[in-house]
Amino acid sequence: MTGRIPKDFIDQLLTRINIVDVIQARIPLKKAGREYMACCPFHGEKTPSFTVSPTKQFYHCFGCGVHGSAISFLMEYEHLEYTEAIEALARILGIEVPRENDAKSMPSARKAKLTDLYSLLGEAAKLYVHCLTQAPEAQAYLQKRGLSAEVIKQYGLGFSPDDWHTTSRQFAAHYEQEQLLASGLQLKNEAGKIYDRFRGRLMFPIRNRKGQVIGFGGRILGSGAPKYLNSPETEVFHKGSELYGLFEARQQTRHLERLLVVEGYMDVIALAQFGISYAVATLGTATTQQHINLLFRQVPEVIFCFDGDRAGKEAAWRALETTLPELRDGREVRFLFLPSGEDPDTQVRKVGCATFEESLAKAVPLSKFFILGLKEELGFKAESTLHVSEDSALFANEAKRLLDLMPDILIKQPLMQEIQRLSGLVLGQEAHLTEETQNPRQYHSKFKGKYAEREPQGVRAKTAKDFEVRKTPVRYAITLLVHSPELVTEIEHPEKLLDWGLPGLDLLVKLVATIEELPEMHAAALLERFRDTPHEKTLLKLMLWQPQSNDEALLRREFQDCLQRMKIQATDKAVERLVAKDQTQGLSEQEKHDLFSLLNERRTK
Ligand code: CTP
Ligand code: MN
Repeated sequence: MTGRIPKDFIDQLLTRINIVDVIQARIPLKKAGREYMACCPFHGEKTPSFTVSPTKQFYHCFGCGVHGSAISFLMEYEHLEYTEAIEALARILGIEVPRENDAKSMPSARKAKLTDLYSLLGEAAKLYVHCLTQAPEAQAYLQKRGLSAEVIKQYGLGFSPDDWHTTSRQFAAHYEQEQLLASGLQLKNEAGKIYDRFRGRLMFPIRNRKGQVIGFGGRILGSGAPKYLNSPETEVFHKGSELYGLFEARQQTRHLERLLVVEGYMDVIALAQFGISYAVATLGTATTQQHINLLFRQVPEVIFCFDGDRAGKEAAWRALETTLPELRDGREVRFLFLPSGEDPDTQVRKVGCATFEESLAKAVPLSKFFILGLKEELGFKAESTLHVSEDSALFANEAKRLLDLMPDILIKQPLMQEIQRLSGLVLGQEAHLTEETQNPRQYHSKFKGKYAEREPQGVRAKTAKDFEVRKTPVRYAITLLVHSPELVTEIEHPEKLLDWGLPGLDLLVKLVATIEELPEMHAAALLERFRDTPHEKTLLKLMLWQPQSNDEALLRREFQDCLQRMKIQATDKAVERLVAKDQTQGLSEQEKHDLFSLLNERRTK
């Protein structure tokens, strides 16, 4: 099933499921006041800092910072995809997951066509396997490359005969022409002639996570160009989000602990033959964010393997940059550089499994490669500290750009310190760690204390230390709403909120609309609504701010107070704008009138 899951089904699901049951079924929880606690399953610890809130239906670890809804928990804990996690929750309730497209936009004819595409590609894979048995030259090539019969079978290798019409002859009776083209197996030239894409090539079927064939890579026997030919992007094949060998790796090992990312088909297969059955390859493309996400959904440890030469280093550096935003505490990334001129295929054949795995153990941690690569990238020698001040500035600037890509995780601070040490420069504010990551518990109690003191709102704190705790009335209103959605009734004219023109109001307005749509939604369900939107991060951060008390009347007053402050800010802003205009262009009668009543309004407060 491929259609989108309707949003309101997810809302309903989350309001019906109890996150405490979901988590308790997997790790023992202890009641502590109104929340539940446990040792965090996502990082090693002896004293519990993992909390589950039944009211917010949300979990949060003060140690490593993981947090989210029941959906997020299952995704992280069971390594499920988003939709798989929803399906798992639906199973608990014994309900079916509806798909938006099922009844509406996806005509059954199209669904049938997709099914056909999978079956066509699957049959093609079988055909190529059969053809391999009839092709001594291809068998000889495989033998020359040293592939065992088992591994050839495991990876379903085949051969496409050197013929322009193998697939037509085989499939024309059962599949439409349109399908054969859509599968990527056939091409049409400008003259309208149709022919086979893969001819005289060793065929590597590419399987999706269910094991369905979605495309092929085809290698020429011996030398010639292009060496590899791959299926084009089709309805079922998306290079940027597939990893060659992942299905096979999962077949081999129920509980994958780490994945090795290599560049080639042959590398994956040779490693598997030598007993390293956890290698996957990107499909002739650079590593994408989707790849990284897919990897970390399977395992906590990823090792990228590259050639030791210049091109390899550059590819590794690109992979690092893509990985940075996806780093979390508990996710480990390392880089293995092979001797120049070797790839994993040749290397494992040369040194064997044990030595190869030893070198894996010595792969360079991300934080180390970060510094080394940065120096290299900017043309510095790896060992030298920096002297010339322009060099330092260049280095620090690039470092800061990269650090800003990273979420606030534990390795960020030592990295920053190292960069400051090397460059002799203090990095800009954004790259500073928030107090929260440095000491979450203290941060939280401190924040509560501050709130009680009622420091002036909306003023950007001056020191970097306070950078993250700036709380504008808009932000605090959002925090309060997430905490107690029923406060929404305090807003008299939600439709007018946007007119106030304050930063952050768009999120507040969306939140208000969502709550009004389904008032019984709790915090986690609200958050799910913003998954994969630009607001998700902000909302998460704001959710972790705890209001000082749970006293309903007090919270209501706080909220009213926020609204009041927002109104004042908005008025000030409007006054400022009109006064400025008065001084430059002059005001119309209407504007004068507006200014007058705004000033009046301000006086009465
Ligand atoms: N690749 C590609 N198209 C090419 C060359 C390479 O798609 N023209 C992709 C393939 O996925 C290939 C990977 O890049 O597996 C790595 O390429 P390369 O190192 O050249 O090939 P190897 O995997 O080492 O294959 P072989 O050992 O057979 O030369
Ligand atoms: Mn190779």
